[in-house]
Amino acid sequence: MVHLEYVFDRAKDLLKRPFVRYVLLGLTSLIFGFLSFKYVFLKSANPIDELYQCAVPSMIYVPPMINKVIAIQEEEFMTRRERLASTLASENVDAFVMEPTISMNYYANVSSNAWGLSERPFLGIVFADEESSGTTVFFLLPKFELPRAKELVGDKLFAKYITWDEDENPYQVLYDILGPSKLMIDGTVRNFIAQGLQQNGFEIVGLSQNVSSLREIKSNAEIDIMFRVNIATISVIRSIQPCLKPGITELHLAETINRLFNYGGLPSQDSPIVLFGERAAMPHGMPSERSLNKNEFALIDIGTELLGYHSDCTRTVLPNDQKMTEEMEKIWNIVFKAQTAGINALGNSNRTSCASVDQIARDVIREAGYGDYFTHRLGHGLGLEEHENTYLNSANNNTYVQKGNIFTVEPGIYIPNKIGVRIEDAVLVSDLPVLLTNFRANSPYEP
Ligand SMILES: *[C@@H]1O[C@H](CO)[C@@H](O)[C@H](O)[C@H]1NC(C)=O
Ligand SMILES: *[C@@H]1O[C@H](CO)[C@@H](O)[C@H](O)[C@H]1NC(C)=O
Ligand SMILES: *[C@@H]1O[C@H](CO)[C@@H](O)[C@H](O)[C@H]1NC(C)=O
Ligand SMILES: *[C@@H]1O[C@H](CO)[C@@H](O)[C@H](O)[C@H]1NC(C)=O
Repeated sequence: MVHLEYVFDRAKDLLKRPFVRYVLLGLTSLIFGFLSFKYVFLKSANPIDELYQCAVPSMIYVPPMINKVIAIQEEEFMTRRERLASTLASENVDAFVMEPTISMNYYANVSSNAWGLSERPFLGIVFADEESSGTTVFFLLPKFELPRAKELVGDKLFAKYITWDEDENPYQVLYDILGPSKLMIDGTVRNFIAQGLQQNGFEIVGLSQNVSSLREIKSNAEIDIMFRVNIATISVIRSIQPCLKPGITELHLAETINRLFNYGGLPSQDSPIVLFGERAAMPHGMPSERSLNKNEFALIDIGTELLGYHSDCTRTVLPNDQKMTEEMEKIWNIVFKAQTAGINALGNSNRTSCASVDQIARDVIREAGYGDYFTHRLGHGLGLEEHENTYLNSANNNTYVQKGNIFTVEPGIYIPNKIGVRIEDAVLVSDLPVLLTNFRANSPYEP
């Protein structure tokens, strides 16, 4: 106690001295000043915040465009099932069986997010018979899950339910109702389910080409959704290109892109492809701590989804104050020219094979002497799946592009350890090809 009192008294004495007061005041101001500096300047110097703040004003029109999207209506689900039913009938199949994967989303509005795959079969069944003409979808499901299924499906969509008890064999329950039938199973139905159906008396056939291709022709409602999500996606790249500066890392850019998606009302992507310089020679490389050097390309390949429909866009860009070498410019222009050829081949779609579209674009790159460096197919179908039928590759010479198909057209040149360039837009096949990104890249400075 005595000691403490002594210390207090000494402190009071000290504080009475003007010199000590000034020193204390000075120290306090210094600490305060440093903290404010750190908060105001160092915080906003976070490269992700800086990029985001720079890019986000150009995204201003995206949230209202996404908010106004119109979901697929009940009638369209019924139309889909009617087309399925008549295709099944034409192939002498009694019913189509699907698990909660893309097809169940397409035909019955139940997504795999809403009902995950489980060891207990939950199957959607659409019949080919004339009476229901496909408008009804039947769900085979565990009895205890019925309230959940009803809540999920709602009272629309003409759903009917067939339930099985925990101690029953679900396939037997189905067989008791349907009797001997020929079932077409969706491409994603798991093997144990296919076997279960077969071992309990059903005849099983695999997914046919004609049934598979029903989903490839997009309706106007689907095209509208895909326009919105692809324009939002290219807007992210267009907004961020003028903000790029050497020094940012691939991971910073990837994180910023996800924040811009979220600003637009769209989900983040698990792994946006953001690759700088020679790393872009890996077509599906993952973003790293690598930072952008002077005068080097950034390849940005991103996509997100809206109401289950996907976008997919790639641009190979340069910060505005950076320069290309002659070779960089040459390669960029060859890839662009190849893309032009590929896109043009998607117009006038009468009997154009998928292989020929790939070939026409590939020829441009080959004739320029870079044929060995275009190492993947030209593109893929885009829709409820990020990569879906049909594929634009040279083996696909028996499939023809059809009006209503949506393809990515994404030629690239990849020279290992040196450079990678890819340009990608989603294109709707029509009399004239329609860009889902509104317009194409003009240069590495105008994505
Ligand atoms: C489809 O499902 C979504 C999400 O569960 C729901 O909001 C929508 O109303 C459903 N559409 C129809 C036609 O039932
Ligand atoms: C598939 O559809 C085409 C065009 O409608 C038709 O010509 C062909 O016979 C169908 N294939 C089968 C196996 O039914
Ligand atoms: C496609 O080509 C065939 C044969 O040349 C022609 O009869 C048909 O009218 C064409 N269809 C369209 C939509 O151009
Ligand atoms: C299509 O490809 C197959 C196998 O690659 C080949 O045998 C066939 O000749 C090709 N057909 C045409 C019309 O090019």
